[in-house]
Amino acid sequence: MKAVILVGGQGSRLRPLTCNTPKPMIPLVNQPFLEWMLLRLRDQGINEVVLAVQYLADRFRDALGDGSHLEMKIHIVEEPEPRGTAGAVKNVEHLLDGSTFIFNGDVMTDLDLRAMLDYHRENKSKLTISLTPVEDPTQFGLVETESDGRVRRFLEKPREVDITTNLINAGTYIIEPEIFRYVPPDQFYMFERGLFPVVLQTGDPMFGFPSRAYWTDIGKPQTYLDVHHDILIGKMNYRFRGKEIANRVWLEGDADIHPQAQVVGPVVLGHGVKIARGARVIGPTVIGAGSQIGPDTSLEGAVLWENNQIGEGSVLRNCVLGRANQIGEHCHIIDGAIVSDGCRFGPENRLERSIRIWPGTTLNERAISF
Ligand code: GDD
Ligand code: MG
Repeated sequence: MKAVILVGGQGSRLRPLTCNTPKPMIPLVNQPFLEWMLLRLRDQGINEVVLAVQYLADRFRDALGDGSHLEMKIHIVEEPEPRGTAGAVKNVEHLLDGSTFIFNGDVMTDLDLRAMLDYHRENKSKLTISLTPVEDPTQFGLVETESDGRVRRFLEKPREVDITTNLINAGTYIIEPEIFRYVPPDQFYMFERGLFPVVLQTGDPMFGFPSRAYWTDIGKPQTYLDVHHDILIGKMNYRFRGKEIANRVWLEGDADIHPQAQVVGPVVLGHGVKIARGARVIGPTVIGAGSQIGPDTSLEGAVLWENNQIGEGSVLRNCVLGRANQIGEHCHIIDGAIVSDGCRFGPENRLERSIRIWPGTTLNERAISF
């Protein structure tokens, strides 16, 4: 069976983390999210995947090639211009045959794909939409179903007054190829506002597959951080890479941890991480490869990508740092602050309240303090 992953969005809500890195390639627990997703598909028996790419396409090619290093067959197809979610699949229709899985490329879930496929076949469904309960459906596609699971209504980004259920489109579909005849070629067309309403009209069997599997759309900074915390505290099935060197402390490769540093899991460390004397690294925290954590620093609930340097006495709490930032001494980066890539902060800066710092920003000593 083949799958299509939609990875053409700009990831604008996740800026500045997506300024240099397409959303599906941003690291999740030190592994590019898309790589994790591909391996999950491979584990569930899907070896051939089409990536419908639009934005920063070369970055996908460089990272994935033809997929042979993952023992998969990967086709990377770039759209001439954004075609929308369904138009993007129409654009790769010639590569598909039979029932096909379609995935939004920004959803973290351990959904059981085999169970979904069985459900699709048992119901002789032509289009099956995975469903998940959420607190606030207004950011998503609301899906009402009949008692037998047939979709009755689909409403993308509903207003408060239109909310009739907490079940939303979870961004995984199984589609029979004949359904693509309803998608106009060579133009922008969406599943959510185009195809689903059309299939409701034509009456082809369209079912919702509700699931209580772990589910989060990683497309916003706060959810990106939440997903890390959830994975680290064990809310979803997740196989950590590397070896467990202490209770719930995983390390890939080698690290240099000073005997007078404290590392309290759940913590994930990349290759070549250095943690200096007196540093306290408290989980849930992820530190990317090559990062150097200075003396007497304190990290808790932090997610750092590769090659960051953290100066003596700095405090990082519930924050995200992209790649290769140099943080001076006694800085505070806390409360949802997001720092992109290649920034240099002088001593004693204080970043908090979800502030977002763009790539390459330089801050002098005490330049920002709330
Ligand atoms: N190739 C391609 N071309 N991909 C696209 C395009 C496009 O023109 N537009 C969006 N995508 C990809 C995005 O990269 C993402 O992986 C996926 O399609 C969904 O787009 P988002 O922009 O993330 O949509 P959303 O999160 O607002 O809403 C969608 O996902 C929700 C679940 O997370 C909808 O499908 C909702 O109904 C759903 O509930
Ligand atoms: Mg999304």
